[in-house]
Amino acid sequence: MENQDLTPFLVAGASGLVGRALVRRLLDDEAGPGVVAVVRRPLGIGSGRVKEVVADFGRLDGLAVPRARTAFCALGTTIAKAGSEAAFRAVDVEAVAAFARLARRAGATRFLLVSALGADPRSKVFYNRTKGEAEEAVKSAGFDGVALFRPSLLVGERSESRPAERVAIVASGLVSWAMAGPLSRWKPVPAEVVAAAMAAVAEGILTGVRIVENDEIHRLGA
Ligand SMILES: NC(=O)c1ccc[n+]([C@@H]2O[C@H](COP(=O)([O-])OP(=O)(O)OC[C@H]3O[C@@H](n4cnc5c(N)ncnc54)[C@H](OP(=O)(O)O)[C@@H]3O)[C@@H](O)[C@H]2O)c1
Repeated sequence: MENQDLTPFLVAGASGLVGRALVRRLLDDEAGPGVVAVVRRPLGIGSGRVKEVVADFGRLDGLAVPRARTAFCALGTTIAKAGSEAAFRAVDVEAVAAFARLARRAGATRFLLVSALGADPRSKVFYNRTKGEAEEAVKSAGFDGVALFRPSLLVGERSESRPAERVAIVASGLVSWAMAGPLSRWKPVPAEVVAAAMAAVAEGILTGVRIVENDEIHRLGA
């Protein structure tokens, strides 16, 4: 990673589809600094190179974490799981913003967020607007460098059932020939590819705000 950074990577969402792939990827470099995973329940992945900090994401403000230079956020839920738009927003915006503040207090100067295709704080679509608000919260948190990853539909093995997501993945697989060229903007993306793209961006110099759209995620993570 840039500058021979020796502080651990701070990660939120480490138990999720992208988060698990990301932690694996960050640990690939055996000489790397390791990971501090802020989690809401113990994952049992604590080892010499992964430290788990169990926390209530509604109350991150007083939490102590080791110093870190780079933070990654792959937090999120679905409206179906959360039960209401307000509960969805509490995770996808408020917990993300609270984690960004925590990262700043830990000394992080760089923040990489898994957002979503179409994120836009002015969108009329609730999901896109919420994702856009999370991006805005991270952009205004005071980092030197922010990377906002906007994947299309995520592909990977989940323990829970998400029927609508399965249907969309199967349907897009049937027309995968049409997903080349300009349509690559919408091409479903494996979680491992998103994780690899995040690690690739973190390896370089990151200053200002970098938006990484779905087609670039495919290229960087290939
Ligand atoms: N699904 C898609 O096709 C898609 C497409 C584009 C963008 N995205 C976005 O990409 C990001 C990563 O998605 P993913 O599929 O990897 O997510 P995921 O598998 O659902 O994992 C979400 C992570 O957030 C954590 N989390 C959820 N609610 C929480 C809460 N109340 N407090 C603390 N932690 C909480 C989960 O922890 P637990 O394990 O404890 O629940 C898990 O670590 C999300 O922001 C998602 O909106 C998804």
